[in-house]
Amino acid sequence: MGGRTAGSAAVLGGLGMEAMDRLASRREAALEDLVAFLAIPSVSSVPAHREDVRRAAAWLAERLERAGLEGVRVHPTAGHPVVTARSAPVPGAPTVLVYGHYDVQPADPPDAWTHPPFSPRVADGRVYARGASDDKGQVLMHVLAAEALAATGGIPLNLRFLFEGEEESGSVHLHDFVAAHREELAADAVVVSDTPMFAAGVPAICYGLRGLAALDVTVRGPAQDLHSGVFGGAVANPVHELARLLAALHDADGRVAVPGFYDGVREPTPAERAEWARLPFDEAEFLRTTGSPRLFGEPGYSTLERVWARPTLEVNGIAGGFAGDGRKTIVPASATAKITCRLVPDQDPVAVVDAVVRFLEARAPDTVRLEIVRHEADPGVLTPLDHPVVAAARRALAATFGREPVNIRMGGSIPVVHTFQSVLGAPTVLVGFSLPDERFHAPNEFFTLDNFYRGTEALVRLWLALAGRDGAGAADGGAPRGGEKEHTP
Ligand code: BES
Ligand code: ZN
Repeated sequence: MGGRTAGSAAVLGGLGMEAMDRLASRREAALEDLVAFLAIPSVSSVPAHREDVRRAAAWLAERLERAGLEGVRVHPTAGHPVVTARSAPVPGAPTVLVYGHYDVQPADPPDAWTHPPFSPRVADGRVYARGASDDKGQVLMHVLAAEALAATGGIPLNLRFLFEGEEESGSVHLHDFVAAHREELAADAVVVSDTPMFAAGVPAICYGLRGLAALDVTVRGPAQDLHSGVFGGAVANPVHELARLLAALHDADGRVAVPGFYDGVREPTPAERAEWARLPFDEAEFLRTTGSPRLFGEPGYSTLERVWARPTLEVNGIAGGFAGDGRKTIVPASATAKITCRLVPDQDPVAVVDAVVRFLEARAPDTVRLEIVRHEADPGVLTPLDHPVVAAARRALAATFGREPVNIRMGGSIPVVHTFQSVLGAPTVLVGFSLPDERFHAPNEFFTLDNFYRGTEALVRLWLALAGRDGAGAADGGAPRGGEKEHTP
């Protein structure tokens, strides 16, 4: 599948060339590693997979050791383990924290997979498995890139690695972990590969993510299910009351109707709106990916603006009463909805949840009881684009993919990114190599191998560029050469 990107020899010095050659000659071994990693069902949110998550952490730690990294540790937490490592110190060179997650989403429904999710299948230049693109493939790319440099003269800057096993279940213990290890994790910037490129062949630097706030709402009525002939009509039905509450959360146009929900929302700047309008966005393709009959969303905003820069409230699922085959004539005892809100800067996550809770409590009739359980609430994040890591990433991506990367935000969430800002004071640059249609969280997830290999080369270039070793001058704003203070945000 192709060799090095044409033209790389022109800008890369000896160290870079050797690292690139090493990557090119070891693609088969890299794929074997990927298959082995993906075969471990590290589903963080399912207690039965606890031991598998631990095995994935151990596999990763062993692989980091083999890559020549130092201080590899598997830290137990109250949840799943955190894996850390670092490169050999290079005094005066920048320090970058690399973050990723080795846990995956559940693979259900199993019947929807054409091949078992944890028996990775390599076909058509892709590897199919749960976690292939989100995020194990991209985690491994970082290990491989570091290994290639370590084996060919050394990693030219200070890399610290932080890989967690709970991202897909909300990163609940990672904030405290980062706070407790802030000295070891201190860095000028954080680089994360856990996002898609903008499109096939269009590399992207992502500078914004939405946050996430979650709550469960339960409406309780009778003490247990009742015969609907004996009691129906004389007591309130919790499913009806929940449906009424949920229906009130949005207006007919799709705006959230909760007073205060949009408080603090920072509008995308005119420059952002103009830049996004120029992106090669294929709305018909986006619609096709969804499988919905038509797109729908808040008036006054484009599709990209809606998913990147506007907050939303989604009912993720409803449970209650009887919905099996056949018939069961009851007034159900209760009904529950799981709700998540995607948040943008500068919404206050707790204030948003408070507003939703107040709204529901004010509307719930006294014929039922309302129970609300609040879960995590993490804010949206934005990273400045004038950081040296961004300049270095631009050069690395352009040289690798043969086209300038686009600057984008994304609508997904990576909770710890805000912690990196607030606890470490370090900005996070998101440089991802998956594709938007690679079925994150869905059946038949896959990763495109060409991007796996090329992205690994891009990461080598990124580290060389940041160390001022990619042949580009500092005149374009990048390539700090030591003096860490000067590129501290
Ligand atoms: N890799 C995603 C985040 C992502 C997806 C960013 C698409 C940009 C575009 C990550 O693993 C994820 O799915 N996060 C969860 C977080 C939640 C469980 C707290 C999400 O966004 O739902
Ligand atoms: Zn992910």
